[in-house]
Amino acid sequence: MSKPLRILGIETSCDETAAAVLARHADGRGEILGEVVFSQLDEHSLYGGVVPEIAARAHVEALDGLIAEALSRANMSLSEVDAIAATAGPGLIGGLIVGLMTGKALARATGKPLYAVNHLEGHALTARLTDHLEFPFLMLLVSGGHTQLVLVKGVGDYERWGTTIDDALGEAFDKTAKLLGLGYPGGPAVEAAALHGNPERFVFPRPMVGEARLDFSFSGLKTAVRQAAEGLQPVSDQDIADICASFQRAVSRTLSERIGRGLKRFQTQFPGLSQRPALVVAGGVAANKVLRQTLTELCDKHRFDFVAPPIRLCTDNAVMIAWAGLERMAAGLPADSLDVAPRSRWPLDEDAKAVVGYGKRGAKA
Ligand code: KG4
Ligand code: ZN
Repeated sequence: MSKPLRILGIETSCDETAAAVLARHADGRGEILGEVVFSQLDEHSLYGGVVPEIAARAHVEALDGLIAEALSRANMSLSEVDAIAATAGPGLIGGLIVGLMTGKALARATGKPLYAVNHLEGHALTARLTDHLEFPFLMLLVSGGHTQLVLVKGVGDYERWGTTIDDALGEAFDKTAKLLGLGYPGGPAVEAAALHGNPERFVFPRPMVGEARLDFSFSGLKTAVRQAAEGLQPVSDQDIADICASFQRAVSRTLSERIGRGLKRFQTQFPGLSQRPALVVAGGVAANKVLRQTLTELCDKHRFDFVAPPIRLCTDNAVMIAWAGLERMAAGLPADSLDVAPRSRWPLDEDAKAVVGYGKRGAKA
C-alpha cells in the first residue's frame, strides 16, 4: 500500500491564526495528526470588530510557534511533510501576506511543493474529510464575511448559486447585537438572549423571499431591528429577548425559503445520483442551534442529508486548508509557484457575476 500524503496547513486570513498537519491515506481517508488555533478575539473585542492591522501583527507573533506546536502534536518534523498549504485569499491582505510568505519560506527551505489555497475551498471541502461526502453536494457558507450557497462539483470546480447582496448573515447578527448593547461577537449573544424571547412579538422583513434567484439580503433586517428598538425606549431585557427571538425567526424563515429553492434546483439538476444528496453548512453562524434545527427540518423535508462538521472545523481553522491542499494533490492538480500573490478578493466561482452591492465587506471569510 502506498504511503500516506502528509501536509502542513496554515490559515491567517482573518482573526484566527492556525496551523495543522494532516495525512491522506491511499483509500482517500483523511487524518488530522496535529491542529492548533489561536483566536485573536480578545485583541479585537474592545473595538467591536476585527481590526486588520492588529490582526496582521498578531499573526506575525503567533504563527511560528503554532506551526511548531502543530508539528509537535503530530510528532513530526517539517522535513517529514510532503507539502505546505497556506491560505492565499480571500481575506484581510495583511494576514494573508503573513501566512502565505511563511508558507513560501518553508517550501523554499525544505524544497517541498506549495499549495496556495482559497479559504472558501477549505470550507467547501471540509465535509469530505469529516463525512467522506461524494461530489456533487451543496454548501451553505454563513460567516461574518460571507453568505453563499455553492454547488461543489469537484476539487476546484464550484458554482456559486447565491450570495448576499449586502450584509453577511454573521454581520447581521453582530450589528443586531451591537444595536441592542449585547457586545461582540454578536451571534452567540443574540442566540442566548433569544432563548427567553417571544419570536412572534415582532414581524421582521424577509427580504428576497419569493424571488427565483437564490441571493440573500440582510441589511433591511438590521434597519427593522433598529426601528423596533428605537420605538421601545427604554428597552427592557424582555424587549431585547423578544427582538432577538423575532430576528432569529425572520432569519430562519428566510434561509428556509431561499435554501429550499436551492435544494429543489439541485434535485432537478442531479435527478439520478447514486448517493442521497447533501447540504453542508460551514462558517461561524453554523453554530446557531435555531438555524441548525431549521436546516435539519428543511433537509428532512426534501430528503437531503444535513451535514454539519464539528463547530471547530466550521469556523476558521488550518485543518481545512491542509485538507484542501491534500485534495488538490490527490486530484493531480499542480502546485503553485513561489511567485503566487495573495488575493484579498478571490471568488470560488470565477465565472459568477457580481451582484448588486456584493463585496461590501468581502475581506472576511
Ligand atoms: O466563521 P467565523 O468564525 O469567522 C469569519 O467570519 O470568518 O464566523 C464568525 C461569525 C460572527 O459574525 C459571529 O457573530 C457568528 O459567526 N456566530 C454566530 C454564532 N456563533 C458565531 N451567529 C449566530 N449564532 C451563533 N451561535
Ligand atoms: Zn472562513
